[in-house]
Order: sequence, then C-alpha cells, then structure tokens
Amino acid sequence: MANKNTRSLSARKGLKDNLFEQIATQTKSENPTQNLQNLAKDFLLNDAVVAGTASFYDFTKAENKKYKIFVCSGTACMCAKTQDNLIDSLQDFFNADEIGHAACVGHCHTNSAFMYQDKTYSAKTKVDIKNILAKEPAEHTLNKYVVSCNTTPILTENITDVKNFFSLTESFTDYSKVIQELKDSNLRGRGGAGFPFWFKLDAVGKENNEQKYIVCNADEGDPGAFSDMYLLEKQVFKVLFGMYISGLTVGANTGVLYIRGEYPDSIKITNQAIQFLEKENVTPNFTWKIIRGQGSYVCGEETALLSSIEGLRPEVRVRPPYPAQYGLYGKPTVLSNVETFANIHWILQNTGKAYKNIGTEQSSGTKLVSLDSFFNTPGIYEIEMGTPLTEIVNNYGNGFKKDIKAIQIGGPLGGIVPIEKLDSLQLDFESLGSSGFLLGHASFVCIPKEFPIIKYIEHLLKFTADESCGKCYPCRIGSFRGYEMVKKAQQKNYKMDRSLLNDLLETLEIGSLCALGGGVPLPIKNALQYFDAELKEYFA
Ligand SMILES: Cc1cc2nc3c(=O)[nH]c(=O)nc-3n(C[C@H](O)[C@H](O)[C@H](O)COP(=O)(O)O)c2cc1C
Ligand code: SF4
Repeated sequence: MANKNTRSLSARKGLKDNLFEQIATQTKSENPTQNLQNLAKDFLLNDAVVAGTASFYDFTKAENKKYKIFVCSGTACMCAKTQDNLIDSLQDFFNADEIGHAACVGHCHTNSAFMYQDKTYSAKTKVDIKNILAKEPAEHTLNKYVVSCNTTPILTENITDVKNFFSLTESFTDYSKVIQELKDSNLRGRGGAGFPFWFKLDAVGKENNEQKYIVCNADEGDPGAFSDMYLLEKQVFKVLFGMYISGLTVGANTGVLYIRGEYPDSIKITNQAIQFLEKENVTPNFTWKIIRGQGSYVCGEETALLSSIEGLRPEVRVRPPYPAQYGLYGKPTVLSNVETFANIHWILQNTGKAYKNIGTEQSSGTKLVSLDSFFNTPGIYEIEMGTPLTEIVNNYGNGFKKDIKAIQIGGPLGGIVPIEKLDSLQLDFESLGSSGFLLGHASFVCIPKEFPIIKYIEHLLKFTADESCGKCYPCRIGSFRGYEMVKKAQQKNYKMDRSLLNDLLETLEIGSLCALGGGVPLPIKNALQYFDAELKEYFA
C-alpha cells in the first residue's frame, strides 16, 4: 500500500519532472541532504522515501560521492586479472580514495576497463592512461570490436535510410496483423527468460486504459555481456522501431529506455537518434524518454526497473500483477529487452514464418553472443539459434588465447560450462537449459585454467550479496552467508560443511522472490559438480 501511495505521488510529475532523475541530480549537488529533503517536500513524500532511493545506487550513495573514477569489477576483467595493475597505475593520477568501482562497463573484449567523466576506456599501461586523461572525453572515439554473423543478418545488417526503415509502419494499419506475425515468428524474449513476445503485446493491447507504456530494458547488467550496448550504439533505430510499432499496436504513446549508467556512449547515441526522429517527425504523437541507470544490477529485473524509473527504492515486486496489467506508474506496460525489440522490424518485413525458419523449432531466429578477451577474436557475433557451441568458439572466436577450463554462459546467474561439455551443446534455450546450464543473454566469460574455481564462486556470491535488493531473506542474508563461508574456507583453518552449503543453495533456489537469489545456485552447483577435484580441499 505504501508503495502504491508513493507511486501515485511520483506519477503526478511522471516522466517529465521525473523523481528518480531529480534524486540522482541532487545527490551530486553541493548540499545533497538539504536538497533531497526539499525534493521530498516538493513531491509530498516522506524524507525517508527519497533517502531510501538515494542510498541504494552505486552512483548516488553519499559514501561514493568522493569517487572520480570507476574501475570495472566485472567478471571478465576479474578473470583477465587486469584490474589490480590498473588500480596501481591509476594511483599515479588519482588519490586511492578517489577510485571507486563499477560492476561492468562493457569492455569485456579488452579489459583493463574503467569509467571516467562519462566515458568508458581500456588502458593497459600508464602511458595509455596519461593519453586518455590528456584529451577531453568527447575527443575519444567509440570503442571497437569485431562484429560478425553466421547466418541471415537480422540484427547486424546496417540500416541505410532511417525514414524508409520506419515507413514499414505504414504497411500495418491492422495491428492484429503485427501480433499475428510476432506469434508466427515465435520471437522469445532475449533478456534471459525467453517469454513469447507476442503474448505481452496481446495482453497490453487488451487492457482498457488511456495511458500505457513501452519500456525497453537496456540495463544489461550481466558482466560479460555487451550485445545490448552494441545494438544501442550501432543499431539503435532497430530498437526504436520495435518500441514504436509496439506502441502503435497496443495503444501506448510513450516509450522509455532505461539504459545503464555504465554505458554513457549508448545513452548519448540513443539520445541523438531520438532527436533525429523527433526533428524529422518520424514517430509522430509518440513521446520518448531515456532514463539513466545509477549503478545497480537488480534494476534489470523488470519490476525493480519500473520502481527505479518511478524513483522508489528498486525492490522487486511480487507478481501478479504483471507489468502488462500494472506496470510503470501502475499502468499497462510492455517491458522487453533491447534485443527483443531489435528483431521486430525484420520479422514484419520478412514475415513471422520466415523468421521461424531460422534457428530451431522452439528457439527461432538468431542470438547476439558476446565473446570476451580470452577468445582470439573477441566481439559481438550474431549466431543462428541451434549452432553448436564449438562452432562459435572455433570458427568465430577463433579459439582461445590461453588454456580455458570453463565458460560461464549467460551472466552471473548462467551455468558454468566445463570445456569438455562444449561439443555436446548448442546455442539455444533448450539445449543449454536441459543440460543444466542457461542461454541467458548469451555472454561467454572464459575461466582460465589457473583461475581458482573457489575464487569464482566467491565472486558470484559477493556479486549477489552486493546487488541484492534486500526484499527477501534468503537472498539478502543467504548470499552474504555463502560469501563469508567460501571466503573463510580459503583464508583460515576452516573447512566448509558440504550439507550446510547445499542447504543454503536450496534455500536460495526455492525461497528467493526473484531470479537473483534464485538463480545464483545454478553456476555454483555446476562448479561443485564439474570441479569437485579442485574444490574438495575446501570441504570437511
Ligand atoms: C536480477 C535480474 C537482472 C536482470 N537483468 C536484466 C537485464 O539487464 N536486461 C534484461 O533485458 N532483462 C533482465 N532481466 C530479466 C527481466 O526481468 C525481464 O524478464 C526482461 O527484461 C523481459 O524482457 P524480454 O521478455 O524481452 O526478455 C533480469 C532479471 C533478473 C532477475
Ligand atoms: S532474490 Fe534478492 S534481488 Fe530478488 S527479491 Fe529477493 S532480495 Fe531482492
């Protein structure tokens, strides 16, 4: 109830004088405490509501205000072991207490990554750092990586004429046809869960409400994934088209992109693209809004993301009601991932049936795969669903630079696939899911042979403990207890009790409200199963 009241107070100023944006701005002001209190008054909110939001995010917390530079603490940079050296080198230019961390800045292909003055970089040496700091952020070019495709390029083909691209909407005056084509295509959500996309349009279309929203989840929190970043920076009109026609189909006149703050270039480029659409009147009567994330993994979870936009503390909501019925500001909302929206133009232009012919029976189409720096050719690859993983590794990644013992596919909640299992797996929801792994967002993070698996498990539990929204006990307390246990097993004369750890994993799995606490046991169980010989010494 309290949240409903707060939501309706925030809704009075809505997206225009958005509460979340104003909180973020005030936390960076000269007198944040007073300014946040004034803001609360202005919104008729209790001070605690605004303080609760401000104290949640990496980039708005009072204790993080001192940081001038944010070093990537993502999984790919950790496995590449570049970050200690980077922090050492940065201390020639910054005080130690000016150096903070960011969960992942999407430079998994180069590592040595950091964010400074609203721009992300990779710097291997002090000379690199010096050169970066010598220039204004705007003078730096976009970061580069290989982009390739093993099938019909749906997501990676470049658009030559934007207005012509958007003119496809004119062929769809009967919007039930849009839903039918999407149903025929069997397009499933690319944010991880694989939910049929047409179903969301159908559900929101049937809601009787004057105000509906289209929300694009561009929070891409999975360390190791940079495919949404690629789409926003190189194929943004595909994403915007998907949102726009979804809006026309369900009767929503507003599209919101929630883009992670660690992708400043994605925010700038998307903003320029929207300005172009507005100036040329390409998407008439449709309002666009970009919301910049402030550093939180759990905001990728759909209900946390909605609360985040509303300026509430982003705790996961109990469902039902689902966003389709009760979404942004309590209104019917289509919320989907960047890549899901980016597929829509091709489907409508070429028919749903043509899309269904690509990939496998249950997983149609293509998937963008992010390959990290341990591959000989790291980058973004558009891969037909059903492609053997060995083909991706050997023909596209061109093998590994180092000995690799496992790959974590699909982010921190994705499975840890031991290298000897690769040749029995394909890139699709079913092959990975039925073998005890996950497709997720299809990021490939390599674990080198010499990297201790116990350290990897520690990293996953620490990540979950840091990013937990705190709404439910199993995740809030369990992830931290697990982290403590695994850390202690390495540092002191202490052995873990196997049954205690198993109990903890089971509690997390079945007792957590969302897939953060509920999902982290999967990679840990994979590690326990496939790396028993390496992990034995840590158990009693
Ligand atoms: C902890 C957590 C983080 C998530 N992060 C993302 C994310 O960064 N991007 C995303 O699209 N979906 C993310 N999801 C999934 C969303 O909740 C949601 O299922 C998805 O955005 C729906 O879009 P889709 O149907 O197009 O996949 C996350 C889920 C959880 C539990
Ligand atoms: S599992 Fe974790 S992140 Fe998800 S609702 Fe519970 S506390 Fe929040």
